[in-house]
Amino acid sequence: MLQVDGLTLGYAGIRVLEEVSLRVRENTVTTLVGSNGAGKSTLMKGIMGLKPPLAGEVRLDGIRLAGLSTSEIVARGVVLVPEGRELFPKMTVLENLQVGASLGGDEARKKRNLATVTELFPVLGRKLSMAARNLSGGEQQMLAVGRALMASPRFLLLDEPSIGLAPLIEEQLMASIRQVANELGLGVLLVEQNAMLALEHSDWAYVIELGRITKSVASAELVDDPSIVDAYLGG
Ligand SMILES: Nc1ncnc2c1ncn2[C@@H]1O[C@H](COP(=O)(O)OP(=O)(O)OP(=O)(O)O)[C@@H](O)[C@H]1O
Ligand SMILES: [Mg+2]
Repeated sequence: MLQVDGLTLGYAGIRVLEEVSLRVRENTVTTLVGSNGAGKSTLMKGIMGLKPPLAGEVRLDGIRLAGLSTSEIVARGVVLVPEGRELFPKMTVLENLQVGASLGGDEARKKRNLATVTELFPVLGRKLSMAARNLSGGEQQMLAVGRALMASPRFLLLDEPSIGLAPLIEEQLMASIRQVANELGLGVLLVEQNAMLALEHSDWAYVIELGRITKSVASAELVDDPSIVDAYLGG
């Protein structure tokens, strides 16, 4: 289990997260719902050790991650797909995937991971030698998720993976993410513009408002009452 306890974090003296606590469990998709500027991306950066906390801690299987570098956190199985994909546009699909695998693991494991990724996203398997920049927007998002999977994560943090995608592709990507969590037993923490769609494909949800967690609830409960979600996202 990935556990955040009392995480407080800020930029230049301004607090952005106030004592945030949450749990991400294996084999489960957890959605973080909140309006623009609520602190969702900052929370993910905090988990990855990209921003040192003012207070609180992140633990993996009960062990504190404080003081570890981001690459050490990745090596322990916590991987972030950041906002805006950050692919290498001139490199091929295969090369982008290999970058994800370069952080560790033997050749056999890399082969297994590549097989998993191309099984989940067959279109990537067919376009391994194509430059990443020539992929469609949806294919690029799949590549970003696929690249993260190459690092053999146990916990995957996805920051708006479907931004800019057509509704049908968005739906497919969300379904794939659910499938990844179930088939590989991953814990996924998902931030998504389209909160309702994410909730439909997730198990548990946290609502974050102005840097504070204000609700922790089964996703189905929010799906059944969309007005609640509208109220939280209203700003
Ligand atoms: N590098 C930074 N320096 C200063 N302030 C920042 C920085 N990054 C984020 N902030 C501020 O922290 C707050 C939370 O930002 P964050 O990016 O975490 O929000 P978010 O919930 O991910 O929003 P969005 O849905 O728009 O992506 C905002 O008020 C933002 O202006
Ligand atoms: Mg964000």
